Amino acid sequence: MKPLVILTHPMPGDWIAPLQERVRLVVGPEGVAGVDASLQPYFAEAEGLFTWLIDRVDDALLAQMPRLKVVSNLAVGVDNIDLEACSRRGIPVGHTPGVLTEAVADLTLALLLSIARGIPAAAEDARAGRWGLWRPDQWLGAELHGSTLGIFGMGKIGQAVARRGHAFGMRILYTSRSARPEAETALGARRVPWEVLLAESDFLCLHTPLTAETRGVVNTDALRRMKPAAYLVNMARGPVVETDALVQALQEGWIAGAALDVTDPEPLPPDHILYRLPNCLITPHIGSATHTTRRRMAEVAIANLLAGLRGEPLLHQANA
Ligand code: DGY
Repeated sequence: MKPLVILTHPMPGDWIAPLQERVRLVVGPEGVAGVDASLQPYFAEAEGLFTWLIDRVDDALLAQMPRLKVVSNLAVGVDNIDLEACSRRGIPVGHTPGVLTEAVADLTLALLLSIARGIPAAAEDARAGRWGLWRPDQWLGAELHGSTLGIFGMGKIGQAVARRGHAFGMRILYTSRSARPEAETALGARRVPWEVLLAESDFLCLHTPLTAETRGVVNTDALRRMKPAAYLVNMARGPVVETDALVQALQEGWIAGAALDVTDPEPLPPDHILYRLPNCLITPHIGSATHTTRRRMAEVAIANLLAGLRGEPLLHQANA
């Protein structure tokens, strides 16, 4: 008999076809975050769990799945999963690093350019009929060339952003757990303490995983250390930034602006004040949202899942 796998939410048929051939797939509902209660009748039999980043996997859930052999998350980030609880139960957790690096780095630069040059507001002015005769002092923005790009979290994505920043003529500073000698040699990147990164960056981009250490690291103190002309770009996870502190910073001009592809909470409710701040640009967690990348993420996640079911090493395992 084929193993039973729970997929928490529906995915395009052609993406999951390779999985459907090999397992008995039970698919959860759309439009609800988490592993839905309607899937409970399948918990006891489930050998594989295929999750999205909106699903919480904790010890209480694992306790209901005694036959579980593998959790596969359709994301590089695994902050939605209790890795320790999985390790304790001998369950490998798969994730999808690598395949989304370039797509996320592209969007980072897109957001950076958008806020630096005020592109959304200028485009909206044009659309709304506010495009009068050309004048030299209107719709002025900041230049990337010659400015300092600060990168917090110099993993694969941080390095891909650094390469792009270098190509734009930016000076690269970074703060990361590990030194990146290749980036230092090739891009002139310099590793600096967090306080220096905050004080010297004209554009501060967040690419760190969400952990106990990074949760809320961009708080009132951090924002107050930034330059008033600096911009913040969050591509990591919403809770890396303290939302209330950011609102105050944007309202009171501690920093010039922010672009957020991730927020806390997420999704950000339609009436949230951040949407009304002219110096804040929000996109709905679309860093990896290209046709190619999302399909590749599905491929990697499925490969991880099938390897785990066979008891083989995963392509990319997030826990020890
Ligand atoms: C991830 O993979 O962690 C991104 O946030 C979504 O692609």
